[in-house]
Order: sequence, then C-alpha cells, then structure tokens
Amino acid sequence: MTTSEAMKAPQVSKGLKGVLAADSSVCDINGSTGKLLYRGYNIDDLAEHSTFEETAYLLFQGELPTADQLKKFSSELAAAAALPKPVLEFLKTVPTDIPPMTALRSAVSVAGEYDPQAEEEGHEANYRKSIRLTSTMATLVAAIHRLRQGKEPLAPRADLSFAGNFSYMLTGETPTADHTKAMDLILILHAEHSFNASTFAARVIAATLTDIYSAITGAIGALKGKLHGGANTEVLKTLMEVGSVDNVGKWVEETRAKKGKFMGFGHAVYHTEDPRAKHLKELSRRLGNEKGDPKWYEMSVEIEKRVVPLLGKHCNVDFYSASLQHYMGIPGELFTCIFAASRIVGWCAHVLEQLADNKIIRPSANYVGPEERSYVEVGSR
Ligand SMILES: CC(C)(COP(=O)(O)OP(=O)(O)OC[C@H]1O[C@@H](n2cnc3c(N)ncnc32)[C@H](O)[C@@H]1OP(=O)(O)O)[C@@H](O)C(=O)NCCC(=O)NCCS
Repeated sequence: MTTSEAMKAPQVSKGLKGVLAADSSVCDINGSTGKLLYRGYNIDDLAEHSTFEETAYLLFQGELPTADQLKKFSSELAAAAALPKPVLEFLKTVPTDIPPMTALRSAVSVAGEYDPQAEEEGHEANYRKSIRLTSTMATLVAAIHRLRQGKEPLAPRADLSFAGNFSYMLTGETPTADHTKAMDLILILHAEHSFNASTFAARVIAATLTDIYSAITGAIGALKGKLHGGANTEVLKTLMEVGSVDNVGKWVEETRAKKGKFMGFGHAVYHTEDPRAKHLKELSRRLGNEKGDPKWYEMSVEIEKRVVPLLGKHCNVDFYSASLQHYMGIPGELFTCIFAASRIVGWCAHVLEQLADNKIIRPSANYVGPEERSYVEVGSR
C-alpha cells in the first residue's frame, strides 16, 4: 500500500477504543490521573462517607438526596425487594451446576415477564423499573446462591440497610456492622463505570426502544465474560492455584513464559492505578488480619509487586475484590453476581440517559470480504 493509499484507507478503531459514542453526565473517568467521579463526586469521598442507597440515588437522579429523599428512596428499594412467586418458582427449576451469572441472566429475563410495567415506555415508568431492578437483583443473587447450596431463599428484611439485607439474604445471619460496611463499599465501588462493555451493551439494546429488562439481560451476559466482570472469579482461581506466597515468583514467571493473562491487571481506560483498587486492598488487608488468615491478602500483594513492573500495567477493581470477598465468605463463582447486584444502578442510569436523548446505535463495518461474485449451484461447487 502506498502512503497516499494508506492515508485514504478507512480508520478502524478496534474495540471502539477512544471513540466518543455519546455525551454522558453519569460518570467521569480520568485514565491518566486515575480519578473516578460519579456525577461529579469523587469515588474516594463516596467510599468513605456514602451508602449504596445514597450512591444509587445520586446516579439515578444526578444529585445527592436530602435526608427525606433518601428515606423515601430507601423505602422504595426495600418495598421492591421481594421476588414475585413465579420468579422464585422459576429459580427452583434452574440447574445448580451452571454458572450463577447464567442463572441470573435468565432470572432477570423471567422477572421482566412479571413486571406489569415491563412494556411501558417513558422516563417515569423506566425509573420505577430501575428501582425494582436494583432491589430485585440483590434478592435474585442471594436466592441463586442459597439454592445452589440446597438452602431455601430468604425473604428480604426491611429493617436492614441495602447492604445489610443483601448480606443477610446471602448468609442467613444478621451481619455485623463491619461486614455491612464491607458489602456497602463493594456495592458503592462497582456501581458505575461509564461506557464499559456491559453498560454500552445495555445502551445499545435500550436504544432500539425495546424494554429495560432486555437491556439488563444483555448487560448481564456481557458482564459475565472474563475480560470484564468475570475477571474477579478468575483472580480467586489464580490465588487458589498459586496457593502460597512462596509460589508467587514461580507462578508469575511461568504465566509470563507461556504468554498467559494476569487476571485483575490492565484496564481499557486507566493507565495508572484503578482508583477503586486501593479501597478494596485496604479492606482485604483488614479482614485478613481480623480473621487471622492474611495469606490471601499477602499473596495478592506479592503478585501485584511482581506483575506491575513486568507488565507495566496496574491492578484493576477485580484484583483485590477477590481476596476481600473470599474473606467475606463469598464463593468465587458468585463474585460476578455481586458485581451485577451493584452495577445494575449504572446500567439503569445509562439506559435512562440513553432514552432521554435517544438515537439508535449503529456503527459501520469496514468490509474486507470478497468482491461481488456469481452464485454457483450446489451441485457445481
Ligand atoms: C482489561 C483488558 C481487557 C483491557 O484490554 P485492552 O484495552 O486491550 O488493554 P491494552 O490495550 O492495555 O492491552 C494490550 C495488550 O497488553 C497485554 N495485556 C493487557 N492486559 C494484560 C494482562 N492482564 N495480562 C497479560 N497481558 C495483558 C495483552 O498483550 C494485550 O493484548 P491482547 O488484547 O491481544 O490480549 C486487559 O487488560 C485484560 O485482559 N486484563 C485481564 C482481564 C481483567 O482483569 N479484566 C477486568 C477489567 S476491569
């Protein structure tokens, strides 16, 4: 190809990297300074001072709630937490040996069948459905988890906070204040992250003017992948495989030699440390010490120490969330579902934003297949 031909050649941005696909006011990421803002509020402040309910309100409404608004919103969430009976019955028919994210994907689709407003259009109806989806998602995740263990799902408790009730429905025990705070932090930090793959998938689906349940079902399918939300499950598998701090060096060398992926490292947007990672890291350290079992945290630190200079990439949100959730007694295969129970807020906020100024999303392909050719009958090929 000559230089002038190369200049005329269409430019493809593989993976749409760097392409500005729409205006958005939900979340701002600065990949160079490692800053993450939800509606203008720094994630560090929200991690320290906020709750999941308050963060969800902020992401949906654009402003932090007043005390009265927060009270009303929290009761609306609590009121929507119970599953319709047919959805619960459906969950009981789901095989217990499939990935929980597969069960969740199907369950959300089924939940849409029993939402009387499912096909209703307009901001108010979609906002109501967003609240229902946010609340239902946690109940679904907990029910899937318990059924996989051969236990009955638990009815939600309105006397607990969102994070507290979620922990209760997962374990059957009233969580301690510390455990509730840890769950709250996980939910706040995973709630939103701009045009990531699952959120963009939700926007693409919503932009066709289908129903919001279809958009969220698609988003769950995208989050499940191990290059996206599925990475946290893979990180725990890595930690299990490595087994001890002493094995880290050998494992890192072997993984590098076979050009393997270091799950939980690298990011499509951040060129610096993922601002969410330090919060999860610190909590993992604390819980490891409190439990008298710092091994999982220490192994993670040793992996980070070796992989960062080797790869030139930092750890992302999924890396320390693995040891942290392991300390919280959450099984690895459920990690991505916990992520979904939080990211539902970001998905819905983006669907609402997309629909407020909708345009169907339809990029073009740079066709590189054969020129037009003649059809040959099957017997003559
Ligand atoms: C997140 C991720 C998908 C971003 O991909 P990306 O935007 O293509 O990132 P980059 O442009 O920086 O990566 C370019 C190359 O660096 C290398 N690279 C990036 N992350 C790597 C990792 N964690 N381990 C090994 N090599 C990696 C790969 O060679 C990659 O090329 P590939 O796409 O052919 O595999 C990628 O870093 C990754 O696969 N990470 C591991 C999975 C993970 O933790 N996902 C959760 C993200 S929050």
